[in-house]
Amino acid sequence: MNFDTLEKELISLIEGESNLIANLANISASIFHSYHGLNWCGFYLWSDEDQELVLGPFQGKPACIRIKAGKGVCGTSYLKRETIRVEDVHAFPGHIACDSASESELVVPLIHNRIVMGVLDLDAPVRNHFSEEDAKSFSGIMARVVPLLWK
Ligand code: SME
Repeated sequence: MNFDTLEKELISLIEGESNLIANLANISASIFHSYHGLNWCGFYLWSDEDQELVLGPFQGKPACIRIKAGKGVCGTSYLKRETIRVEDVHAFPGHIACDSASESELVVPLIHNRIVMGVLDLDAPVRNHFSEEDAKSFSGIMARVVPLLWK
């Protein structure tokens, strides 16, 4: 996987467009089709009004809509403000099974001006799909893309 090419593609997709939903939709589609072996790729956005994560643009099967802070992999990443790589979702306490095909998961928090705006969630149908390198690369890409999404 060439992460430099992916990052350039994501930036070129969103620069010049200010609509958040459109940009997140294109990012999820781009990652889903560029990075091998995903069964789900998308966003959960923090709702100040509802005080929970709410499903955003994604690729894959329909998913659970609301996730509380601290719940599942996404809510844990949100609360800890950390990228979380799960080698085996069945071994992660409180994992939320949206697509029963998911076996491993990578969740990256989207931090803008020190506020967690939401998370990027990647799911794969095999165990241990995401490497440490993948986790670092996706975290780096999102750190550079987030300032272009929330200006
Ligand atoms: N598995 C996630 C929930 C979202 S779905 O995978 C799309 C979690 O435990 O937070």
